[in-house]
Amino acid sequence: MSKQAAALIALQIKRKPDSVLGLATGDTPLLMYQELVRIYQKGELDFSKVKTFNLDEYLGLEKEDPQSYFYYMKEQLFRHINIQPENINIPNGMAQDRNLECSSYEAKIKETGGIDLQVLGIGVNGHIGFNEPDKNFEALTHVVSLDEKTIISNARFFESMKEVPTKAISMGIKTIFHAKKVVLLANGETKAKAVAKMVRGKIIPKVPASILQLHKDVTIVVDQEAGQLLQKNEIHR
Ligand code: PGA
Repeated sequence: MSKQAAALIALQIKRKPDSVLGLATGDTPLLMYQELVRIYQKGELDFSKVKTFNLDEYLGLEKEDPQSYFYYMKEQLFRHINIQPENINIPNGMAQDRNLECSSYEAKIKETGGIDLQVLGIGVNGHIGFNEPDKNFEALTHVVSLDEKTIISNARFFESMKEVPTKAISMGIKTIFHAKKVVLLANGETKAKAVAKMVRGKIIPKVPASILQLHKDVTIVVDQEAGQLLQKNEIHR
């Protein structure tokens, strides 16, 4: 999964050296980033003109906090490659004016001409970015209250439940949808149901990833465990 995904990103950068990439965090893309670093270290990839926008960031964590997505991206990818610091964009989880932070983030994506390739993971509850199951799809970058399932799932990264942030800033569904290409990764059995619902279920805000059925250029890369329910050709409601 990771090698396939890294190959798609590498191809994107080779075809368009000034690509705008949308990036994801979490466990899923870890080895994909390692693979990209490996390709870079072999001298086969140049990030000097690449711009990046991350999907989301926790509210209330400083950039230097080892649990922040800023820190994650620095450690997993940015400090190993030749990306220019001014080309890196991650929502500021410490912004005084959160609504302004959201609208500026959205405007900045637009200014670059939009995201060429957006990398996504998927939550066990079908979320993409931190667009949680809800009654409506939230369009643009916004402040979200995290779903209980997400908080429980994220607790593995923190010492105690108390420390797990409950709010975040996330790109919205429309922000993600405007990406020219989407590459969604999923691995492990815990993602199998969400993957099946995304691909074959109804398009409903209760399964935010299901909206991707309407996007014109999505590649879903799964390992066998995450893809196991797709083979049965069942409809998942
Ligand atoms: P994970 O998160 O990669 O840590 O499973 C994926 C997601 O929540 O989008």
